[in-house]
Amino acid sequence: MTELTIRRPDDWHLHLRDGEMLKAVLPETARHFARAIIMPNLVPPVVTGKDAAEYRDRIMAAKPDGSKFQPLMTLYLTEETDVRDLRAAAEIGLIHAVKLYPAGATTNSASGVRDFTKVKRVLENMAQIGLPLCVHGEVTDDEIDIFDREAVFIERVLDPIRRDVPGLKVVMEHITTKDGADYAREGGDNLGATITTHHLVINRNHILVGGIKPHYYCLPVAKREEHRLALRRAATSGDPSYFLGTDSAPHTDANKLLPCGCAGCFTATNTMSILAEVFEQENALDKLEGFAALHGPAFYGLPVNQDTITLTKGDPVTYPEKIETGDGPVTVFDPQMPLHWSVSA
Ligand code: DOR
Ligand code: ZN
Repeated sequence: MTELTIRRPDDWHLHLRDGEMLKAVLPETARHFARAIIMPNLVPPVVTGKDAAEYRDRIMAAKPDGSKFQPLMTLYLTEETDVRDLRAAAEIGLIHAVKLYPAGATTNSASGVRDFTKVKRVLENMAQIGLPLCVHGEVTDDEIDIFDREAVFIERVLDPIRRDVPGLKVVMEHITTKDGADYAREGGDNLGATITTHHLVINRNHILVGGIKPHYYCLPVAKREEHRLALRRAATSGDPSYFLGTDSAPHTDANKLLPCGCAGCFTATNTMSILAEVFEQENALDKLEGFAALHGPAFYGLPVNQDTITLTKGDPVTYPEKIETGDGPVTVFDPQMPLHWSVSA
C-alpha cells in the first residue's frame, strides 16, 4: 500500500498552553486534526466553567485563518470542584471531560486531588450525566518506584474508584504499561485508554543509554521494551478500547535542558507520519483509522469527522527539528527513524 485515506483524526489528549506558546503550537495540531481534548493544566488551572469558556475563546482566537479545528474543553478536578458549575458547563456542551491529576503527579498538578473521598460526589454526578473522567494514572507516593507507579495506581486508586462509582466513564490517559493495556481491554464500554505516539516508539533506554536525553523524558515515563511492545499490540489491534491521545506537551528547550527539566514530548508536528510508519511496521495500516479517528468519538459519544486526510508513502518526509515560539524554541520529537508517509488534506 502506498496511499491511505482515512477520516480526519482527532487528538484525545493535548496540551496547548496559553499566550505565545499557544499561538505557536496550535497550527501544528490544527494542520491534521479536527478536534482535540484540551488539557486544563495551565497556571492557574482551568477549574470552572468560566475558566474553560475563556480558555476556549483564547484558543479560537489563536487558530490559523480558515482552520476548522475544534477544541474540546475539560475542567481540572480539585477537591473544591463545584458540582453545579460542572453540570452547567457539561449541559451547554462547553466541557467534554474532567481531568484528574493526583496532586504532584506531573507538570502543574499541585492543585490536584489528594483525598479521593472528597471528589466522590462530583464523580457520582459525572456518572449520572455520562461525562468522562480523564485520569493521569500514577500514584505519587515517595516509596513507589517511578516505573511501578502506573500499575500501583490501577490497583490502589483506579479500580477502587470504578467500583465505588459504577457507571463512571473513565479514560486511562497515556498508558505506558502492559498492565494498563490489559486493564483497559477488560474494563467494558465505560473504560477506554489513550496511547501516545511517543510511547509507541521509545522505551526507557532511549532516555538513559549513552547520555541522558531530556527530550525523551515525559510522564508517565517510558517503560521497558516489553511494555512498548504491548502498547504497539494494543494500538494496532483494532480494539475500540484504545485511541490516540498524543499528550503532545510543549516546553521550551530552556525548560527541558535544566538540572530539573520539564516532562513532555512535543509530537504534534509529526504524529501522523510516525503513526503511519508504526502501523505499517506492525502490518496494521488498516487499523490506523480506527485508532486515530473512530474509537475516540465512539467513546466520547461524538460524531466521526466527515472529511479525510490522505497519507502517501514516498521519500522520507522532512519536518522542522524545532518550532520557534515567542517563548523560545521547542524541539519536535525525534522518532530516530526515517518517516515515509506524508500527510495531505
Ligand atoms: O510529560 C508530560 N507532560 N506528562 C504530563 O502528564 C503533563 C505534560 C505537561 O503538561 O507538560
Ligand atoms: Zn498530558
